[in-house]
Parts: sequence; structure tokens; C-alpha cells
Amino acid sequence: MWKKIIRNLCALLWVAASASLWAQDFPSRPITMVMPYAPGGPGDTITRVFAAAMQKQLGQQIVVDNPAGASGSIGTARVARSKPDGYSLLMIHVSHATNLAMYKNLSYHPVDDFEPIGRATSGPMVVVARNEFPARDLPDFIAYLRANQAKVSLAHAGVGSASHLCGLMLMNALGVKLNEIPYKGTGPALNDLMGGQVDVLCDQTSGTVPPVKAGKIKAYAAAGLARLPSLPNVPAMNEAGVNGLDISISFGLYAPKGTPQPVVEKLTAALQKSVADPEVRARLDGMGVTAVGVELATPQALRDHLRHEIDVLGGLLTKAGVKAN
Ligand code: MLT
Repeated sequence: MWKKIIRNLCALLWVAASASLWAQDFPSRPITMVMPYAPGGPGDTITRVFAAAMQKQLGQQIVVDNPAGASGSIGTARVARSKPDGYSLLMIHVSHATNLAMYKNLSYHPVDDFEPIGRATSGPMVVVARNEFPARDLPDFIAYLRANQAKVSLAHAGVGSASHLCGLMLMNALGVKLNEIPYKGTGPALNDLMGGQVDVLCDQTSGTVPPVKAGKIKAYAAAGLARLPSLPNVPAMNEAGVNGLDISISFGLYAPKGTPQPVVEKLTAALQKSVADPEVRARLDGMGVTAVGVELATPQALRDHLRHEIDVLGGLLTKAGVKAN
């Protein structure tokens, strides 16, 4: 009996020691950071800021990969299946929570199949349109959507994505049903908006602020309760007497379940140094995005935030009868 206990104890100590020794060399080769939406979108932009910052902290190349589609669930599934060695990471936002409610046959569970590393950012959204959209201002925009409904095309990045959630809130707030056009990310959607092939999009500021400031698209409303410092001349929707459009999008970093704890700790430390880096904070601030405080760049903070989004936003979509398949 005692021999068996001692043998098991030695085995446990050996596993812990070998994981710790192994982690001392981590990372010894390039890391892949998956952003499961198309290149050029708001998620991709934010991901590349953190890939560059964490690469500096870890002293090893971080390559961003964009296996897009099905509202981020294709790329997310790839990371869930990856070897839990710290060399495959996932940067994702609210769709990590909503896809659980949206897709019946999801091949992963957002909580059970991932190790949270920490939260990274939070940021607002803006309702934008192609430059030739025939509405002078926000009241005129609201009147036009109500008068034309399905004749107006609304782009988004797939059922359950941030742009889809914001689009749903916009349609519910105005009591309209627009013609939804899904993309593999809002990068391609913004290209079509700039080209005039699609009418309206609600997207994160890391995707919309640059083209709005460059005069390539126009902004009608901030999708929150107050105007945005990055677009001070754009009214909040409630200034036109319309309530119910208030959404902010947070990104977090994950590794596959089973990634050794010493490796998770190294990744969390690199993320915390990145969110505290003044250059990172300034770059994100320039696109209307806020890097979280170091106290939120932790596994527990991300675990709590994911649970909240599963319960609240996943619940909202389920109640609204929204399903992807
Ligand atoms: C979304 O949820 O709308 C995505 O973040 C868009 C993107 O990053 O391409």
C-alpha cells in the first residue's frame, strides 16, 4: 500500500518537474497566434498589435494565422485540436461565447477545451455606411432604414459575431429587418462598403475609425451610450431618441486545454507586460480600443468574462431564436 502511494507521488513529482524543466526552454520555436476572422478586420488588427508586443517579451517569433469562417468557429476548432504545448494560441472575442449557442454541432467547448491566458482589450462599435448612402444625418438614417428595411443590406462577420450582434441590436432598436450579408470577417465587408457593394455595417472601432477618418466610409452613430473620443462628431444612437444599442467588444487570449501551467504562466506574464506597454496602449488608443489593466490580463479574469458572455449574450441570442445551423 505505502509502496504504491510513494510510487504515485514520485510519478506526480516527476511530471511536475519535467513540465517545469520543459517550460524553462519555452518558447524555443515560433508560436502561431490564430485570429479566426479574415485578415484586415478589427480582430486581425488587434491581434497583430499583441503578436508584435508578445514576440518582443518572449524573444520568439509569433506568426498570425487567419483560418476564417463560420463566425470564428473554424479557426477556434483548429486551436482546440492543436497540441497543448503553448505554440498554438487563439485570440478571440464574444463569438467564443456566442458560438456555443449558435452552432448545434460545435466540435469544441469554449470552456472545457481551452486554457485562458488573459484578457487583452475592450472597445466600442460604430454604425457606418457606404459614402453614397442617401441619409444626411442620424435621424434621416433611422427614417431611411425604417422606410426601406430589406432593401438595405447589412454586412456582418457571421451569425454570432460582434458585427452580427451589433446588427441585431440595431434592427431590434429600430424595429426593422434588414437584408443580412455574411462575410468571413469585416475586413472584406469594409472593402465592399468602401466599394459601395453593401450599404451598412456595425463594426469595432479598430476596423471603422481608420476608413472613417480617411473619408472612405461615413459614420452615423456610436453603438453605445456616449460619443467616442476617437469620433467626437458622431452622435450616440440615444441622441436620436433610440435606446437598446449599447455594445462593447473584449478580446482574450487562449491556449488549448492541457497546456502546462508553467507555459501558461509565461504567456500570461508576456500578455501582462504587453497590456502595460505604453506603445501598445497608444497604438490601440489611436483606433479607439483600450488595453485592459494588468489585473484583468489573467486567466481567472478571462474565465469570469467568458462565463458572463455565455450567460448573457448567448442567452440573448437563444431567446431571440437566432441559430447558425
Ligand atoms: C466580428 O466579430 O465582427 C469580427 O471581429 C470581425 C473581424 O474581426 O473581422
